[in-house]
Amino acid sequence: MKLRSVRGTHDIYGQHIKKYNKIEKIVCKNAELHSFNRLETPIFEFSEIFSKPLGEQSDVVLKEMYSFKDRNEEMLTLRPEYTTPMIRAAITNNLLSQLPLKLFGIGPMFRRERPQKGRYRQFNQINFEIFGSNNFLADLELIIIANEILVSILPNINFTLNINNLGQKNNLSEYKVKLSKYFSDHKDKLSNESKEKIYSNPLRILDSKNDYDIKISNNAPKIFDIISKEEKNNFNELKKGLNFFNINFKENHKLVRGLDYYCSTVFEFKTSELGTQDTLLGGGRYDGLINTLGGPDIPGVGWAAGVERISILMNEIEKSNNIIHLAISDKKYVEHILNIINHLKKNNIPFYWNYKYNLKKSLSYANSNNIEYVIIIGEHEYINNYLTIRNLNTGNQSRVEVSEIKNIFNGKF
Ligand code: HAM
Repeated sequence: MKLRSVRGTHDIYGQHIKKYNKIEKIVCKNAELHSFNRLETPIFEFSEIFSKPLGEQSDVVLKEMYSFKDRNEEMLTLRPEYTTPMIRAAITNNLLSQLPLKLFGIGPMFRRERPQKGRYRQFNQINFEIFGSNNFLADLELIIIANEILVSILPNINFTLNINNLGQKNNLSEYKVKLSKYFSDHKDKLSNESKEKIYSNPLRILDSKNDYDIKISNNAPKIFDIISKEEKNNFNELKKGLNFFNINFKENHKLVRGLDYYCSTVFEFKTSELGTQDTLLGGGRYDGLINTLGGPDIPGVGWAAGVERISILMNEIEKSNNIIHLAISDKKYVEHILNIINHLKKNNIPFYWNYKYNLKKSLSYANSNNIEYVIIIGEHEYINNYLTIRNLNTGNQSRVEVSEIKNIFNGKF
């Protein structure tokens, strides 16, 4: 059998891992600033926590979940998203006594989609959630964090925040009936895929990318016309807040999101620089979901962003030459070099040794990798308990005592 990785999965190394680390650092910094605590959940959960909340008719549940029977016949699913596992974890660990509860996490998700640029079967999500507040300020805080993270990681990329309000669950049920009626009246002009969704999931027709569907859905009834005055007020307050923070947004009354649990505020950050997989980040309110999963009747709001989609748009991260290479001429000096390594380690100075005893080769390797400093150990250094530090950029070199290493590199790393 030819060795290969599973379709839609990828190994993370080189530039990609550097970008991943940078994303994680920026996410954690923003989470700390806004007092969100990290919570990581297991990769798999009992299947039932996903199927009903995400929607029996949603693409994720219908076609994309990796589910399997465990040896004891229990159905398990590799998590396709973070929100329901976070809620499950908050309930089972009794974290909901002090509200609002603010949580975040970063980790792998699994969806059996058709792989393409920006769409994979195993991908990583950044996820932020607030449980237990129905204040629009929770929505605002989440969007501010999302915007800050995207701006910090992608300073040169244009993205647009799309926002909508779906009203409460009863508005949505009423709206779905209206939509089904409207689309069934225009059935002949819809794509085959959308025809199948007229009664099962009419909301999804609104964000179809098919030109015929777009034409028809442009004149479809709008959810905004049937939502309550209170929701409209909340939406206006949210817009004022976004203006206050200078966050540009577009009101998009066709934005419905792909999972069933949403209501009220929904939002997405989109970019035209990613091709068809243009959503970098999406989220919204899911009042009622915590209760459906067996928790108290408290509201929730959150978002998730795709790490791979973000990293495709990031600039290359320059290779650091801030590593000191060791060049040793003979294995007699190994004790001396271990002593030096110990000093470097204790002083947090990063180093690299290829375990070889060949000055010439080690120096030329360091040269071709643009390394600035090399520590050279030869006969003279060994006998006098010294080391030689050569700056490969300037060609300057000096002999120093081992205990001096700290002072020589002070502040450089
Ligand atoms: P979602 O829109 O399904 O929402 O996914 C959020 C983000 O994950 C997408 O915008 C995209 O960047 C990334 N993503 C999704 N599928 C893939 C894939 N196959 N390959 C690469 N990236 C992907 C949710 O998952 C909700 N749980 C978000 C949420 C949190 N709502 C409230 N709280």
